[in-house]
Amino acid sequence: MSLISTRLNRIKPSATMAVTGRAQELKAAGVDVIGLGSGEPDFDTPENIKEAAIVAMRAGQTKYTQVPGTLELREAICAKFKRENGLNYSPTQIQVACGGKQSIYNAIMASVGEGDEVIIPAPYWVSYPDIVILAEGTPIIIQTKHENGFKINAEQLEAAITPKTKWLMLNSPSNPTGAAYAKEELKALMNVLLRHEHVFLMTDDIYEHVVYDGFEFTTPVQVEPKMYDRTLTLNGVSKAYAMTGWRIGYSAGPEELIKGMNKVQSQSTSHAASISQAAAVEALNGPQGFIEKNNSVFKERRDLVVSMLNQSEGIECLTPQGAFYVYPSCAGLIGKKTPEGKILENDFDVATYLLESQGVAVVFGEAFGLSPFFRISYATATDVLVEACERIQRACINLK
Ligand SMILES: Cc1ncc(COP(=O)(O)O)c(C=O)c1O
Repeated sequence: MSLISTRLNRIKPSATMAVTGRAQELKAAGVDVIGLGSGEPDFDTPENIKEAAIVAMRAGQTKYTQVPGTLELREAICAKFKRENGLNYSPTQIQVACGGKQSIYNAIMASVGEGDEVIIPAPYWVSYPDIVILAEGTPIIIQTKHENGFKINAEQLEAAITPKTKWLMLNSPSNPTGAAYAKEELKALMNVLLRHEHVFLMTDDIYEHVVYDGFEFTTPVQVEPKMYDRTLTLNGVSKAYAMTGWRIGYSAGPEELIKGMNKVQSQSTSHAASISQAAAVEALNGPQGFIEKNNSVFKERRDLVVSMLNQSEGIECLTPQGAFYVYPSCAGLIGKKTPEGKILENDFDVATYLLESQGVAVVFGEAFGLSPFFRISYATATDVLVEACERIQRACINLK
């Protein structure tokens, strides 16, 4: 009899974390590797936020907090939703978790069971389907198209809904494509959900602040207030505030669901770290100016990477409106032969070839549910990105 449960055997370890780990291993072994796999800003956490953590530690805020998070942080989150999204929540409708990932995990564990279907547009963030499977639910994947900017439309959503549908999981701006839904596009999707009262919406807004070219972010409940009682709005400080290691995510939604999520959290991590919670209060309440500054750096890098990738033979890359990823098609490389004589059969082969021949670590598209593509995170120093793109161009030229 195996020690490992059958439940665990149904899921995969996170592919993005695996690629980052492999790149770190190769680097440690002395190989010249450029890691473009990791989804975290290379900027440091702003000083005022670090300072708030130090002050909290000195003031003895080093003990257990309430399960859903300190009242101070939940109030700061309510103020954020009011200020930035025009949404009213009370602290009992808020849960703070150890990162956005745990927010999603808590929500799915609290609400999904055997037989429940969860609609997930592909390409998706790698953890969505596996978390649903862990909860014994069934992911229902809607495939998007490169030519539609990797977004689903109302007809596709309508066709995917069944009496068993529990959730639609939406992520805009998206990891891995950077695609962001405009207000009218969200409205069309919300109109479908209004017709199906048993379907709940989980909107993952973690890249809310990372948008370009004047794109106006809107969260679905802003667009359709009638979805307020059926929506869980997820967010966190990891991406906008360069705080990935602090592990703070949060969500807002119906009290009944938040209570269920608190029950799950009370039997797992209890709550997010007290010191990180104090830092998150400062992140949300403090000066926000650096977000704009970081975004202008990200935008320059995005433009550089898109342009250099489009100059690579066999690669085609859209210009995304948000997040810090591009998701180029490598359809033009499939079927080509490497200098070692290997035929590239799929995007996993392409990613392996880029790593082995040029030391560039990217994540293959299959991990995100849409092939043949790969994901590059451009949250890396500009000179490193130039070098990486030059290597990718060389790798393409070397194919026959
Ligand atoms: C779409 C999306 N949601 C949620 C998360 C979770 O973020 P964290 O758990 O680091 O706060 C990530 C991180 O990569 C993400 O890309």
